[in-house]
Amino acid sequence: MATVHTYPDPVLLAEAAARHVLEVTRAAAAAHRQASIALSGGSTPRLLYERLAQPDIAEQIEWSNTHIFWGDERAVPPDDPASNYRMARETLLDHVPIPPENVHRISGEIEPPMAAAEYEGVLRSFFGSGPGPKGPQRTCFDLVLLGMGEDGHTASLFPGAEALQEKRRWVVAYYVDSVSAWRITLTPIVLNAAARILFLVSGANKADRLRQVLYGPSQSHRFPAQMIQPTQGRLIWLVDDAAAGRQ
Ligand code: 6PG
Repeated sequence: MATVHTYPDPVLLAEAAARHVLEVTRAAAAAHRQASIALSGGSTPRLLYERLAQPDIAEQIEWSNTHIFWGDERAVPPDDPASNYRMARETLLDHVPIPPENVHRISGEIEPPMAAAEYEGVLRSFFGSGPGPKGPQRTCFDLVLLGMGEDGHTASLFPGAEALQEKRRWVVAYYVDSVSAWRITLTPIVLNAAARILFLVSGANKADRLRQVLYGPSQSHRFPAQMIQPTQGRLIWLVDDAAAGRQ
């Protein structure tokens, strides 16, 4: 069951999202395990990442106990302006004391299918369902941050993509015609295993699609954001008034 929270503007939306990150990292620390967070790309989460980097919030997060992943990546080098990793590094990771080994970027600079296979190995190893010790780790992300495109895509799960039907692999790479580029993305099975999924949606340009995704008939092949239905976790939409059609 999804809950939808609306905020007057993107700044207050980012503030609310930052509170969720604090909650998740505190809970992991209290349970004496590492927190695993998958970041979203795109532009919406910039305000959140900048907020998390501000001392009053950053000092409340045990960065040595926090592991950062990505829900998707563009097939570009890490210093490319289009890189989701670069955006997070510039807005957040360069400003907080997170150990480099806790930052698990997708290798956008190598052949995309190889990057997908490599990242799947990273995830399976971290979550204990692959080679390596089965620590007290969760078997899934504590928190997944997602955005939604005007076409209803999320992560790099685009309308009509075969990746939407993937039932075995956790990470796939494919050429996305609508953006004329290769993308590497987590698949619904690993996204939906998360303990908490947070959509951040902002802007009047998203309002019509958001209404269809949230309240319209299920058409997940057309609107992949509808595929995000956590099996046991919480699904929370944080939207601003503009995206909620209130402006
Ligand atoms: C990406 C994101 C993508 C993004 C949406 C919304 O790599 O671009 O993962 O799914 O969240 O396209 O992007 P905006 O926040 O820029 O509207």
